[in-house]
Amino acid sequence: MRGTWLGSIVVSSFVALSACTGTQFTPGTDTESDSDTGSETDPDTTGGDPAAGVLDLPDSPYNYAAIELPAHYVSSLARGMDNTPDDNPITDDGATLGRVLFYDTTLSANNAVACATCHVQKNAFTDPRQLSVGFDGGLTGRNSMSLAEARYYRNGSFFWDERATTLEDQVLLPIQNSVEMGLTLDELARRVGAQDYYAPLFEKAFGDSDVTSERISLALAQLVRSIVSFRSGFDEGMATAGDVGAPFSTFTAEENQGKALFLGKAGCAACHLDNGPLPPGTQPGQPVPRVNQAIFFIDFATNNGLPYAAGDDDNGVGDVSGIPGDDRRFKSPSLRNVALTGPYMHDGRFESLEEVVEHYDSGVQPSPNLDPRLRVPGSPEPRKLNLTPAEKAALVAFLATLTDQPLLADPRYSSPFLAQTP
Ligand code: HEC
Ligand code: HEC
Repeated sequence: MRGTWLGSIVVSSFVALSACTGTQFTPGTDTESDSDTGSETDPDTTGGDPAAGVLDLPDSPYNYAAIELPAHYVSSLARGMDNTPDDNPITDDGATLGRVLFYDTTLSANNAVACATCHVQKNAFTDPRQLSVGFDGGLTGRNSMSLAEARYYRNGSFFWDERATTLEDQVLLPIQNSVEMGLTLDELARRVGAQDYYAPLFEKAFGDSDVTSERISLALAQLVRSIVSFRSGFDEGMATAGDVGAPFSTFTAEENQGKALFLGKAGCAACHLDNGPLPPGTQPGQPVPRVNQAIFFIDFATNNGLPYAAGDDDNGVGDVSGIPGDDRRFKSPSLRNVALTGPYMHDGRFESLEEVVEHYDSGVQPSPNLDPRLRVPGSPEPRKLNLTPAEKAALVAFLATLTDQPLLADPRYSSPFLAQTP
């Protein structure tokens, strides 16, 4: 069962946020160096506080539970996609603990990596490398995924092949992965419990200071679910126009052209905005009703016709389910902040959005599992878009409006450690 979005209409919740986002953000701002990290006042010699000299956390926790979201996020359609379980709602103290864990290299076998090593805030919580480097120098099998909007993947499954069926399960898997972090769950609880600064954080989040891998999972999942991107140029346009289909007065002509292509002729929204199985009887290429205007997710794994090289044996969902019809179906992360999440696709094969658009324009490969939305109506053949160079550039310009600079510099998601770890 999905929880209800209890906090979404709390009105006074912008306080913590606006206090911290008063400065203008410039692209590429290094979030570690700007804020009031208090480094002047440490080392703290007052004793007693186990976090002194280690962590810089606000006296009262940041607001994670009741972030005020714009209207297009609180529609019943958008809320209906929330995968928050009833037994793990976001709390401010739980997500604060999650933030510390997310940046703590204690969670890897040799203190070499943290979650944040491969999910970098300024890169929209992904890794600019094609494959990420684990604790012992090994490479991950796939490209790292952006974490924004994880909360809204309606079926609640995670990873490119959807092998984790809840976020609570997912967050413990990189820790136990032999390439990524390399710990057993017992070692995890022991190592975290050995750090003095955790006792008060667990106490605030869970009522007592017991450290268990289950609590670590709950707290990390709360933090990840709280990462919602809603302050981009696109959101500004939505606030003024009220409907995704109307031209945005805040957009350039090119951005509006790109939006119209995304929603219409190029057919991107059929997967990356509409979210949901095709209504019965829908013909390939036929426009289908949009069910939300906010999330930029496809709600289930599909095959988007990527060419594959001999020897590439990554069958995505098919490897997990064993069903041939699932071969080479992959989840796509939300397209929010997509201008910053390259390289693209599960294997990071495309360096740029121009290459991605080229793929959809003329590179989609036929296969029995190719999604009907990418076929010529009434035929098994892949569709070709025949976009002009100006139309391709407009699509890329529209995708860039999904960049949310305030999120990328939001102190709620920056490292809480005084000495930088990852
Ligand atoms: C060494 C790099 C690395 C580390 C460390 C790492 N991740 Fe990941 N993460 C990845 C890669 C690569 C994927 C995609 C893997 C796949 O699909 O097979 C991924 C996928 C995810 C996803 C799935 C997103 C989605 O939409 O399905 C989540 C959530 C996530 N990681 C959270 C975390 C958390 C929390 C931690 C710390 C406990 C962490 N990661 C540590 C590299 C890493
Ligand atoms: C049939 C559904 C479908 C349609 C239509 C579709 N996509 Fe995708 N898209 C996907 C899937 C599935 C993936 C992930 C595939 C993979 O990695 O193997 C993806 C991945 C992407 C990515 C990379 C995301 C990342 O984080 O790596 C971008 C960018 C993208 N699509 C843009 C577009 C654009 C632009 C259009 C319209 C021209 C479009 N898509 C049309 C299903 C679709």
